[in-house]
Amino acid sequence: MEKIIVFCITTLVALTSFSCQSKKEGKSMVEKKLFGKLSGGQEVNEYTLKNANGMEAKIIDYGATVVSLTAPDKNGKYEDVVLGYDSLDGYVKDKAYFGSIVGRYGNRISKGKFKLDGKEYQLSINNGENHLHGGTDGFNKKVWTVVNTDVVEALGSASITLKYNSKDGEEGYPGTIELTVRYTLTKDNELSINYTATTDKETILNPTHHSYFNLSGDMHKTILDHEVMIDADKFTPVDKELITTGAFSEVANTPMDFRIPKKVGKEVDADFEQLKFAGGYDHNRVLNKAPNQLSKLASVYEPVSGRLMEVSTNQPGVQFYCGNFLDGTVKGKNGVMYTKRTGLCLEAQLYPDSPNKPEWPSPILVPGKVYSQTTIYKLSAKLL
Ligand code: GLA
Repeated sequence: MEKIIVFCITTLVALTSFSCQSKKEGKSMVEKKLFGKLSGGQEVNEYTLKNANGMEAKIIDYGATVVSLTAPDKNGKYEDVVLGYDSLDGYVKDKAYFGSIVGRYGNRISKGKFKLDGKEYQLSINNGENHLHGGTDGFNKKVWTVVNTDVVEALGSASITLKYNSKDGEEGYPGTIELTVRYTLTKDNELSINYTATTDKETILNPTHHSYFNLSGDMHKTILDHEVMIDADKFTPVDKELITTGAFSEVANTPMDFRIPKKVGKEVDADFEQLKFAGGYDHNRVLNKAPNQLSKLASVYEPVSGRLMEVSTNQPGVQFYCGNFLDGTVKGKNGVMYTKRTGLCLEAQLYPDSPNKPEWPSPILVPGKVYSQTTIYKLSAKLL
């Protein structure tokens, strides 16, 4: 008899929790609305991807930019965890690359010069004497074409595919590139970014995604209490102009070591030359993984909210940047002035200045080959 009662109670509890769970589940969807108009009158639209859990990613076709991304805290409360602006004007004037796809080449190319097949190319110079993130009018300043949006109800996911054709000669790069980026919000609260590209002429390509995360959801706070783990034994040191020197340095016994989770603020201001050059963390990490293998490379945990972000990629490197150049002069969403280290970026990519470092994984793309990158940001919360 006792066994029967225990069985009935267990079944009832199981059924109740199942029905609660299924009640919480919604439908995945994509909604489109006007975000703003450029000075020439061109419309920029915002697409809201919603998964079955109610998590949302808002993406605009200007720069293929993520303007908002919600994530659950330890109590299940979804809040926006990325920096950005309230209006299109902010993105047009932006110099921090908030949320955008940058390219053709993420990070710096020394003096904007590189050689292909013996011929020297001169790219636009937009960062001191160097080329940064695709130049003056990179992919982040273009209106992309929305190829399609897709909802897979059975999987609880929603996606958007955007395309940008970069013409031969744009910002000094050879070859016309057709780049497609698909953002998918999965039922597992992952924002998955898939890039594919082809060219009609030998060229270089190394796009990345530039969201600034602050998992507290409160952009008045810095990210110094975020605990970061990066699975990399080595990083690529830089010179005073933040150009990679070509060396690999061990992170062991230095403030650069994030192999075991560590608060960003613990050693960010340490008396260490590489941190002085960059004003904090702003270095590419040489990931401990086989090339082209999609695997987890980093995690970020914010202890008050309990939010956790895990990042996976098939790229060999990741630029860990902790918002050193934010200086309180930029008015972000909800009128918040973003101060130094309000957000952190984990930009999956090739090692910076690789066109000038032939021994490193190559950015060269030739006709007939397809460039392919997958990077995934998974948001969850540690239940205490
Ligand atoms: C990257 C670079 C930084 C800085 C930011 C944009 O992440 O590594 O040095 O240029 O972009 O402000």
